[in-house]
Amino acid sequence: MKTPLFDGLLQHIQQNPIQFHIPGHKGGAGMDPSFREFIGSNALSLDLINISPLDDLHHPDGIIKEAQQLAADAFGADETFFSVQGTSGAIMTMIMSVCGPGEKIIVPRNVHKSIMSAIVFSGATPIFIHPEIDKTLGISHGITVEAVKKALHAHPDAKGLLVINPTYFGVSANLKAIVSLAHSYDIPVLVDEAHGVHIHFHDKLPLSAMQAGADMAATSVHKLGGSLTQSSVLNIQGDRVSKHRVQSIISMLTTTSTSYILLASLDAARRHLVMNGEELLSETISLAYKTRNALNRINGIYCPGNELLDDKAIFDVDPTKIIISVKDLGVSGYDVEVWLRENYQIEVELSDLYNILCIITFGDTEEKTNKLIEALTKLSLEQLGIIEKKERKHVNVYVPNIPTLSFSPRDAFYAETELIVLENSDGRVSAEFVMVYPPGIPILIPGEIIDKENLDYIAKNIEAGLPVQGPEDPTLKTIRVINERKPIV
Ligand SMILES: Cc1ncc(COP(=O)(O)O)c(C=O)c1O
Repeated sequence: MKTPLFDGLLQHIQQNPIQFHIPGHKGGAGMDPSFREFIGSNALSLDLINISPLDDLHHPDGIIKEAQQLAADAFGADETFFSVQGTSGAIMTMIMSVCGPGEKIIVPRNVHKSIMSAIVFSGATPIFIHPEIDKTLGISHGITVEAVKKALHAHPDAKGLLVINPTYFGVSANLKAIVSLAHSYDIPVLVDEAHGVHIHFHDKLPLSAMQAGADMAATSVHKLGGSLTQSSVLNIQGDRVSKHRVQSIISMLTTTSTSYILLASLDAARRHLVMNGEELLSETISLAYKTRNALNRINGIYCPGNELLDDKAIFDVDPTKIIISVKDLGVSGYDVEVWLRENYQIEVELSDLYNILCIITFGDTEEKTNKLIEALTKLSLEQLGIIEKKERKHVNVYVPNIPTLSFSPRDAFYAETELIVLENSDGRVSAEFVMVYPPGIPILIPGEIIDKENLDYIAKNIEAGLPVQGPEDPTLKTIRVINERKPIV
């Protein structure tokens, strides 16, 4: 199977042209020797730029166009755009392609910061749908068809509906039903598919955005599909969204110095997924089930699976995402993340107050998952031994309410602001984002009224050692709030 972009680059390199163009390291010759040696001459020879035989991501007409067309065929899309700005760039493109200043977009509140950034850039007004909160695990899931129905009924003039499918934790809503509802209002559906590149390639995984009939999807090929970090795709289908508008907006948001290493890795990952994805994913899924079952036999560990399904917000789950609830061990997810690093050199995908998340991909082996099982068995014995000597304390899961939006995020972001002590900000309107990264879901966005619950939640996360970030003040002692308070509703 062809990889026109990768093949074209190899052909170009074989001709060994004399390069009087950037990048100035000229195949590594003008570069720090130790870095050159480590990274290797093959990788460096691929670090090229958009000279005409190599096409141009901003106006694709040659090998990039061909590679994008093959990717569209692979993902079941009408058009695929390669992104070297991650899924963040693709998400911003989706939103800015459908929404202008003052126009409404319906979004779940537990979205990634790139969605909120696009809302600030575009000046769109977010209409929030509250995600379903899982009080056992302390995480938010997807949105229900019922909640989407209500939002569409109240805002039939919305320019788009954004859905996260699947969530970071691998939970999918009934995307097909949501798409058909939105389309009955002729509203395009934009899918944040950052955590779902693989689902398109196996029928035991949730439906992909394109399979469910969505209009656009921003998909991190780099996260779970085998391409290099920062490389993603934006897939579109149907006629609700103009491909010309998408091309011009993605171009506005993209560097002119696009990395051919990243682009070639997208071309190759597409081939690998098409040729071997199904078989590799079958093995991945069975390894994930085996691991989950073994983890569930460890005292104090809970690893949710299909029992979560409820036909509402949890319509389907991706078994390759292993959520490991550790609250019954009397420690936080962050404590476990650190313990695994220090004792077993194991690195997890993320931790929060109550859980760690481990992802299983076709890059994993049973030897590695056995190490995780061994480590958590040891931790459980250690922890339950300690707990038995003390009194076993029940950990209450705590998820704060979603704050009230009193200004549009853009107005708040550009308003007159002042810096005040975070602890004293109860009742003020935030002009900044505050989030824990990963997963990067904002606790506060510009325009929201800060309340005591949010402050307690931020304090709890900082105390647990989790990476709270967003405000200009990296110490998080202060926060920028807007000077005046003027509700818009
Ligand atoms: C739900 C979600 N959407 C979007 C993104 C952004 O993806 P990228 O890192 O490819 O820009 C992430 C990244 O973690 C994410 O978790």
